[in-house]
Amino acid sequence: MKISSGLQEFHEKLESENLGPLWSSIHKLNTIEPEAKPVPYLWKKELIERNLEEAEELLEVGNGADRRALFLINPGMKDLKPVGWGGATQTLYAAVQAVKPGEVAPAHRHTTTALRFIMKGKGAVGRVNGEKITFEPGDYLTTPTWAWHDHANEGDETVYWMDCLDAPFTKYMNVCFTEFYPEKQQELSVPDDYSSKRYQGGMVRPISDRKPSIAPLGRYKWEQTKQGIEGLREFDPDPFDGLAVEYINPSNGKDANNRIGARMQMLPAGFKGKAHRHVHSNVYHVFKGKGHTVMNGIKFEWSEGDFFVIPSWVWHEHVNESETEDACLFSTNDLPIMEAFDFERVEELKSNDGHQDVKEIFQPVY
Ligand SMILES: [Fe+2]
Ligand SMILES: [Fe+2]
Repeated sequence: MKISSGLQEFHEKLESENLGPLWSSIHKLNTIEPEAKPVPYLWKKELIERNLEEAEELLEVGNGADRRALFLINPGMKDLKPVGWGGATQTLYAAVQAVKPGEVAPAHRHTTTALRFIMKGKGAVGRVNGEKITFEPGDYLTTPTWAWHDHANEGDETVYWMDCLDAPFTKYMNVCFTEFYPEKQQELSVPDDYSSKRYQGGMVRPISDRKPSIAPLGRYKWEQTKQGIEGLREFDPDPFDGLAVEYINPSNGKDANNRIGARMQMLPAGFKGKAHRHVHSNVYHVFKGKGHTVMNGIKFEWSEGDFFVIPSWVWHEHVNESETEDACLFSTNDLPIMEAFDFERVEELKSNDGHQDVKEIFQPVY
C-alpha cells in the first residue's frame, strides 16, 4: 500500500502510544507460509567435545554449578526474548551433558517436559518419580512434566547424553514452574528399574494399568529399539525416513513423552531419501554412521556424534553415504504440540523426482 507522509507520521504516533495500524501490518500476521526464525544448522561432535572438555577443566559440578551441559543455540534465534538464550528450534531446547564419576545433579521438577538419549559411557543412573533407572548408550529416557528427577554417575567413566526439553515453548507460554526437592537426591519409593521390569518390551501391560498414565515406562533400551527396527527391514523403507520407529507410551500408544516426540531411524546402507517438509521441527543426533541431509538446497554432511536441526517448513532429504554400513539417527520433534493444535501439515517435493538441487555445502565450525 502507498503510505503518505501524513499517514507515516500517524503510524509513528500510534507506535509511541502502543497501538498498531492493522492496514499496513496484516501481511505480517497472515503470512502465505510460516516464516521460521530458526535456520537449518549443524553442530559437529568435535566442537561439542572440545568445549565440554574445556568445561570439565574449568567447572566443578557441585561447587555452585549443578550441571555441565552445553545447549545448542540456533543462530536464527539468538535474539529471541524473553527466553534470552533462544533454543535449537522454535519449541525445542537440546543440550549435551557430561557427568563425571561421583557427580550428582540435585533433585527438582518443572512443568517443562524432558527426555534424554544416552550417547556414551556407562555407570550413570537417574531417579525419576521415586524410581532409580540405570541406562546405557542408545537408551532413551523420559522425564515427564512435573516429575521429580535427579541423576548421578556411580560408575568410573564420564557419561554423555543428550537432553531435550520443550523449554522455548513453555517459556513463550509463560507456564514454567520449578520446585526443588528438600534433599539432594529424592527418596526411592519403588524397586530399581521398576517400570522397565513391569513393562518389559511394552507388548503387554500389568492388569492394574488399564487406566493410561503419563509415563508408565521410564527407560527404553537400545536392544529393544533395535529389534523394532530390524523387524521393518524385510519391508520397503519409508521413502523419506527409512526404517523408523517412535518411542511410545505403552499404556495409551501415544508418544512416550506427551509433548516431545522421539524417533530412532535407520537409514539402510546406500539409502537415498526423498524430500518433504512439515510444520513440526526436529533436533537430530547422529547415533551411528555417516551421510548428509539436504535442507532447503544446502547440504549438511554428518557423522557419528553430530547434531543438526530441521526447522519448521524446511525441505529436507536424508542420505546414507555408506554402501555397506547402516546409519542410525535419533531425533526429537514437536509433533505432539503441533498435532494438539491441528497445526501439522506435510508436503512432498514433486519436482526433480523428489530431490532438491544442492546449491551449497554447509561449512561447520569444528
Ligand atoms: Fe530438570
Ligand atoms: Fe521429515
